[in-house]
Amino acid sequence: MKTIEVLFTPAEFRALHGRDLRGTACVVFDVLRATSTIATALANGAAGIVPVSEVSEALVWRKRQLGVLLAGERGGVRIRGAHAGGGDFDLGNSPREFTREAVLGKTIVTTTTNGTRALRSCAGAKTILACSFLNLAATAAFLRRLDAEHLLLVCSGTGEDEALEDTLCAGALAAEFAAGGAGSPSAERAAELWRQHGGDLAGAMELSANGRRLLGVAELRDDVAFCLRRDVFNLVAAMNPAGIIQKTS
Ligand code: MLT
Repeated sequence: MKTIEVLFTPAEFRALHGRDLRGTACVVFDVLRATSTIATALANGAAGIVPVSEVSEALVWRKRQLGVLLAGERGGVRIRGAHAGGGDFDLGNSPREFTREAVLGKTIVTTTTNGTRALRSCAGAKTILACSFLNLAATAAFLRRLDAEHLLLVCSGTGEDEALEDTLCAGALAAEFAAGGAGSPSAERAAELWRQHGGDLAGAMELSANGRRLLGVAELRDDVAFCLRRDVFNLVAAMNPAGIIQKTS
């Protein structure tokens, strides 16, 4: 690996349009909660996840392909009728909703405020992975085998800002891969934050706007502890050229 770079905010991932990513492995982080939800859905047998940027794109999928489930959030909550042209979405963006009963064998089209947009912004990259603490070790092992020329760690952020939980997850990878000499100031910054906070992820949520917001909502509070668990799924979530995220080994 020649270079490792970390993007911290949506303004940075939006600027990827027009950049040549053909030699780059992009790893996208939305720990709270999109990439944690994607890992959970795949672990529970979903056939594939299609991340889309807009509600309207998800609705087109529903018209076009019978049996797809629509998922996602706006303002953190499931997309309902008025937003969705009349019908409710089947699922929100809580990983705890993506049970085996709900998702086995299903294709799920999902749109979230930042995470699915970050995934889409990596279009054209050599490899695109969705990573979270839930599948961090499996993702790292895959990247070691892949040995891409450039590694780009894309944090989805919260609103327009950096999200500490994404930076920490990216920092765990940066700390591992930058040790080979491929680091950069952004990778060093993320790795340093990981070294500071990686031992107490629950405590770090005091410093996370999205963490504090989720902890303040009774129905969503448990998502935080769920998403901070390390390596409970031994799977890699990779996007194929058709834009569908599937389990890869
Ligand atoms: C996002 O994509 O912005 C997040 O996943 C928001 C959320 O917590 O649902």
